[in-house]
Amino acid sequence: AAPLRFTIAIDGPAASGKGTLARRLADYYGYHHLDTGLTYRAVAKALLDQNMALDDEFLAEKAARGIDLSKLDRTALSTHDVGEAASKVAVMPAVRRALVAAQQAFAQRSPGTVLDGRDIGTVVCPDAPVKLYITASPQARAKRRFDEIKSSGAPAQYEEILADLTRRDARDMGRTDSPLKPAADAHLLDTTEMDIETAFLAAKKLIDQALAGN
Ligand code: DC
Repeated sequence: AAPLRFTIAIDGPAASGKGTLARRLADYYGYHHLDTGLTYRAVAKALLDQNMALDDEFLAEKAARGIDLSKLDRTALSTHDVGEAASKVAVMPAVRRALVAAQQAFAQRSPGTVLDGRDIGTVVCPDAPVKLYITASPQARAKRRFDEIKSSGAPAQYEEILADLTRRDARDMGRTDSPLKPAADAHLLDTTEMDIETAFLAAKKLIDQALAGN
């Protein structure tokens, strides 16, 4: 019999395709999905909106404690500046503690949950029965982001996007508290040469195995 509650933990760098994959898996299995990046973005935006310093741990923690997971507005939070600021507020342990607590409560929902971020398999849901670590070369990720921006009609510069991603990777992988890295028991999925359908099928196979109890 399928377990009563199931969690799929997905981590990876910016523009790896983990968000798209997480949404597709949540749809397919009928699970609740949380893009944990949005929680860090919401804290960053709260500070930006009040013209507060991004390293003010006291105010940032207060903002983090006030985050309502049901009110995360993807459109308002998806700008480049908010993403950059999110990566900065995410280095503060007090912010992480508050957000991780909310994320862990979310992970308990029935019948199951898909959480994606940077530290899901390592810190938020270390006992998740399936952990995926999604990577792709920086060039492939920059190209995807470039195509995305272009198709929205906005101007885009490949070199600038690549430099940006590289800087973001360094910050997310280099911080002391909960750096981005694969959990020891994560399945690595390199999507450099993979389309979303192929990645979905690879992930589905691993999840179906875990659901069947092996
Ligand atoms: O995935 P994203 O671009 O929305 O994430 C924005 C930033 O938030 C990311 O650069 C680092 C931080 N983050 C984190 O530290 N831990 C997570 N679980 C998710 C995001």
